[in-house]
Amino acid sequence: MSDIYDKVIELAKRRGFVWPSAELYGSVAGFIDYGPLGAMMKRRIENIWRHYYVIREGYYEIECPTVGTESIYLASGHVKGFADKMCQCPHCNEYFRADHLAEACGIENGAVLSKEELAAAIIDAACPSCGETFGQTEVFDFNLMFQTNIGPGSQRKGYLRPETAQGIFTDFSRLLRFYRQKLPFGAVQIGKSYRNEISPRQGMIRLREFTQAEAEIFVNPQEKTHPAFARYADYPVDLWAIEQQQNNTAAITRTMRQAVDEGIIANEYIAYYLALTHELLTSIGIDPKRTRFRQHLPDERAHYAIDCWDAEVYSERFGWVEIVGIADRTDYDLRAHAAESGDSMTVFVPFDEARKETRKRIVANMGVLGPKYRGKAAKIAAALAEAMPGPDGAEVVVDGETIFVPGDLYTVTEEEVEVRGAEVMPHVIEPSYGIDRMIYSVLEHAYDEEEVDGEVRKVLRLAPCIAPVQVAVFPLVNKDGLDTIAREITVDLQDAGVLADYDDNGAIGRRYRRQDEVGTPFAVTVDTETKEAGTVTLRDRDSMTQVRVMIDDLVPTILALIRG
Ligand code: GAP
Repeated sequence: MSDIYDKVIELAKRRGFVWPSAELYGSVAGFIDYGPLGAMMKRRIENIWRHYYVIREGYYEIECPTVGTESIYLASGHVKGFADKMCQCPHCNEYFRADHLAEACGIENGAVLSKEELAAAIIDAACPSCGETFGQTEVFDFNLMFQTNIGPGSQRKGYLRPETAQGIFTDFSRLLRFYRQKLPFGAVQIGKSYRNEISPRQGMIRLREFTQAEAEIFVNPQEKTHPAFARYADYPVDLWAIEQQQNNTAAITRTMRQAVDEGIIANEYIAYYLALTHELLTSIGIDPKRTRFRQHLPDERAHYAIDCWDAEVYSERFGWVEIVGIADRTDYDLRAHAAESGDSMTVFVPFDEARKETRKRIVANMGVLGPKYRGKAAKIAAALAEAMPGPDGAEVVVDGETIFVPGDLYTVTEEEVEVRGAEVMPHVIEPSYGIDRMIYSVLEHAYDEEEVDGEVRKVLRLAPCIAPVQVAVFPLVNKDGLDTIAREITVDLQDAGVLADYDDNGAIGRRYRRQDEVGTPFAVTVDTETKEAGTVTLRDRDSMTQVRVMIDDLVPTILALIRG
């Protein structure tokens, strides 16, 4: 029996939302095409995301290449560590993610197990492809990045980006100047990311090429209070925190202020973006009753994160699916890129008032060093100043040689200096959204079937703000000038920026059903009364009720309805 996933995907394919990519050549798992309606809906969702992050938060969007040089991913840790644990079926030779197989055998959170533990956990697992029992098999690391060569001759290695974030980190110094050297600031990016997933069998949920919308917000680690926290302080969300997971109890509902005060969420920034994410997901039509935030367990967190929460959305087929990750990445990335590139990635943060600090100073008398060290006096003095030893003598390393410098060759003095600020390595707060997973969730939550006049009405109850076609315009019959009026109305709506679909093909009931299936929220029908009364019918997709509206009022009415 087909479940809702099959129904949604059948509709999505038939009506031009999503297609398997390159079907002509048999297609490859993990790649999809967005058809005419899917591509339009995707743009609308991306633009709502932009409304929140670019317009409202004020984090400008940048656009970096999807191919990056090896140095970026050596520094970020992806070359070494961005791998899933994989095994091969000894019977049919297909590859699988070992943690997924272990989870299918009832093991919780397979991703945190070692290769040996996973190999033991999957001994009795049935191969999802051939059905044979795995038995003893080796588990090994598989790096998920697609590798490529830049230019001819394979001289420079490159990778397709596995996340958009790294482009923002490598532009950090330029962004800092753009934002006039002041924390906090942020930049965002919406674009394709690539991961060579081992055996993607979850349709739109696990892709090898997918769209991410990421914000990287650079904050002063000493000041993790969000300047606009008040906006969401009283906003409640369902939190499945570490404690509830460990005790196997349900998610708890907390306002963001409570969650920060109780120490459930690490800081105001993370709490702020949890609430913003909840609001954003709800605004595009994801059911808040099927949304929760799950905190990463300590051994599950990415290597760079100190606190991380996933917005999870419930899907009938896949259960709770992560669609957004909100992480405190600390200064991991900036520190790593500073070390690899040699560039400084700190920000000078002035104090509110200049402070007095006691500084030690070394006054060295290197002239009396023995002949062996002649010519090295300056270097030894500099090494001493760096080490700041006490008065009894110190070991310093100069040109690879450890030298003991007796205390009578230098004096340590203390002086008071006025300090106006400090160099700070910013921390990064990162809300990271998977647009394709959002689209699938929206479709599943919007899909509905009901019986109308003895027939099944399939309807996508899409929020008007993301519906690809915003209004349909029908002449009741294709004669008596009704078609001309309907075409004029269509043009007026289009001129006002509304995506209006003129349709005079087939019985009116069929036309309504076609629009219901693709989620068009409103339909305008020009009928026999139109000519005499100057009115049309305006039908609401969800209730199927119709009201008469003056033609002159139609455009502002529809605009108001779409904006909600
Ligand atoms: N920069 C952080 C980062 O990339 P992530 O949790 O690996 O974090 C963020 O990815 C989001 O990207 C996920 O919540 C998910 O929605 C989406 N995503 C990740 N891998 C995906 C895949 N293979 N297919 C579709 N979406 C994916």
